[in-house]
Amino acid sequence: MNHDTCGFGTKAIHAGNVKDAQYGALSTPIYQSSTFVFDSCEQGGRRFAGAENGYIYTRLGNPTTTVLENKIAALEGGEACLATASGMGAISSTLWTVAGAGKHIIADGTLYGCTFALLNHGITRYGVEVDFIDTSDLEALRSHLKENTVAVYLETPANPTLKITDIAAVAREAHGYNPAIKVICDNTFASPALQNPLSLGADVVVHSATKYLNGHGDVVAGFVVGKADFISQVRLFGLKDMTGAVMDPFAAWLLLRGLKTLELRMARHCENARKIAAFLAAHPAVEKVNYPGLATHKGHDVAARQMKDFGGMLSFEVRGGKAAGMKLVNALKLITVAVSLGDAESLIEHPASMTHSTYSEEELREAGIAPGLIRLSAGLENAEDLIADLEQAMAEL
Ligand SMILES: Cc1ncc(COP(=O)(O)O)c(C=O)c1O
Repeated sequence: MNHDTCGFGTKAIHAGNVKDAQYGALSTPIYQSSTFVFDSCEQGGRRFAGAENGYIYTRLGNPTTTVLENKIAALEGGEACLATASGMGAISSTLWTVAGAGKHIIADGTLYGCTFALLNHGITRYGVEVDFIDTSDLEALRSHLKENTVAVYLETPANPTLKITDIAAVAREAHGYNPAIKVICDNTFASPALQNPLSLGADVVVHSATKYLNGHGDVVAGFVVGKADFISQVRLFGLKDMTGAVMDPFAAWLLLRGLKTLELRMARHCENARKIAAFLAAHPAVEKVNYPGLATHKGHDVAARQMKDFGGMLSFEVRGGKAAGMKLVNALKLITVAVSLGDAESLIEHPASMTHSTYSEEELREAGIAPGLIRLSAGLENAEDLIADLEQAMAEL
């Protein structure tokens, strides 16, 4: 059956699945094999030459992973998908495919810390020029586009400030200047259940599948989604030759399992984050709350337009700055102090000293990441329990 016209939840369960012809297993089998047997030397040669379909070696493709890739492509509305060993594997394989010495990338200055590090002092070591701007400022984007610009890179909602960028406006601006520029959007915070950047004009979507897509805190994984010819370049160059960041078949299977409940989980993450954001916004000890679902959020209108709901991530500052923020985090009893996000457990962390410690103090200031900012991933617990935990910790301040 073709699932193109089905709803998101149906696609997450059924799209891309291949009937197990051997035993009729309901769950996709785990092909935990590094390599695949050829009938003959000639057949191996034909497969390497692309003259015959069939698996060769798991770094180039694996049947369990193919099912997952086809499912993610369907969920993101892309022609094709490449699974990777981590979100950073997806991002670096993509950037190594589009960039090279003498090429120019425009990136938003507010990014996950290791993505910022890769763009700021990783690929720049190899002759790639990177300008950091605020991609929600179209004038800044316009003034930085150049003849050698190959990509515009952004996250929306951005980690950790939840800044919103208008994906359609960025794509219009970049493609108006040069249709060959790849607009690359990290869709980790929203997940395809809430936002499809390709339908808004982006060329490439990257994911840390470690987060909502898997959702259970037990896998590190990533995806790149886009046009089939581009994904094939990322597979055969960015991943095969440059990063080698291939997803393990068992991780692919765990992701297939996690994805079955993605739509349900996202609804609960959003509901919990909305309630927590409202509680924090009304609390006298709280100075600022960043949640795109709040009408006071700068990007609220754009988020309402381009997202189905506002997500499970929020960040906030308490009065008294960093010391008070740390005291609050240390006083929590239920909400867990850990990096990562999108898991069943609510997770809290301090970006300036943890996920974004790759930024200098000045870079943190420019990115709008305050020294006392706290990032919270609303999990799947009952909202009343999470709010009660925050309330008792606030009383300690
Ligand atoms: C928005 C975002 N993108 C990418 C990554 C990197 O993903 P991974 O840790 O799976 O390599 C992260 C990790 O936290 C992230 O938050």
